[in-house]
Amino acid sequence: MPETSVVTISRFLLGEERRHPHATGAFTNILHDIAVAAKIISREVNHAGLVDILGRAGSENVHGEDVQKLDVFANDVLYRALDHTGHIAVLASEESEDPIPIPEEFPSGEYVVLYDPLDGSSNIDVNVSIGTIFSILRKVTDGERGTLEDCLQPGTEQLAAGYVLYGSSTMLVYTTGAGTHGFTLDPSIGEFLLSHPNMLIPDPPTKVYSVNEAYFDRWSPGQQRLVSHLKGRAGFGSRYIGSLVADVHRTLLRGGLFMYPGDSKNAQGKLRLLYEAAPMAMVLEQAGGAASDGRGRLLEVQPTSLHQRIPVYLGSTPFVEMADRFLAEDAKN
Ligand code: AHG
Ligand code: MN
Ligand code: MN
Repeated sequence: MPETSVVTISRFLLGEERRHPHATGAFTNILHDIAVAAKIISREVNHAGLVDILGRAGSENVHGEDVQKLDVFANDVLYRALDHTGHIAVLASEESEDPIPIPEEFPSGEYVVLYDPLDGSSNIDVNVSIGTIFSILRKVTDGERGTLEDCLQPGTEQLAAGYVLYGSSTMLVYTTGAGTHGFTLDPSIGEFLLSHPNMLIPDPPTKVYSVNEAYFDRWSPGQQRLVSHLKGRAGFGSRYIGSLVADVHRTLLRGGLFMYPGDSKNAQGKLRLLYEAAPMAMVLEQAGGAASDGRGRLLEVQPTSLHQRIPVYLGSTPFVEMADRFLAEDAKN
């Protein structure tokens, strides 16, 4: 009999749920709802050139960035996929300044979902891969509905984290703390099928670094020495797409070192801790990699505000450790 193990994400999630005897199924439903939202966003992304979904939405987000129409669409799809299920206590999105309450008419639940609905927005109009990033936490406050405090938990408290990459194919990669697993969307049947079980960052790692070198002059001496070392004696190659999900996915599959450093203009860099850095850090750690903020383990950073930024160094563990060593020299000066 030919191997026809068609493992859909729903079947995989149920299998994972069975391994957690006290699992209520709520968690499985949330991940399933995110997968449904991903299919809808994927459909729109793949028609972006054909329908009036390209270009600016004519507004700015909380970060003063031009919001793209697809940002708004993706943000709306994720909200509608999650707001009514009764599993969620509070939501938070890159596109909303404050936490998003669950409407009074819907029951509140035990989980918190933080998301960047569309990452890499500036690349939409030039057909470069973009993504969605999500992080799932357990509600920690006693009130009936969730609050900002429920969102401000360190990455080590994440129950699950992952991303969707809208690229040459649409992939959903996630972890619940039991390894990192990849699913590829088969548009002909509208299912995410298990294509990359137990993803592990390659060892030995590929010597590739990924950073926007346009900011070199603004970097700390340690950061400048690190990149000069990588491109010099260490003999690294360089790849930078400028779309976090695409850059992280390549780093996960090939190995290497992705960096978004702080600099003299933005001390904490550009990437947001709660719904970009922390979920990616969990995915990489569960795949045998590492993630640092240049000073220590990124997942242990205690957030103090919803949209706070953080320097990011993630990828093959030896390279992340090397980055920390170079940056530690800054601390001495
Ligand atoms: P977003 O589109 O959600 O604002 O995120 C964009 C981020 C991330 O995708 C990428 O790593 C980074 O912007 C690229 O920034 P630079 O253009 O400064 O390199
Ligand atoms: Mn983003
Ligand atoms: Mn975004």
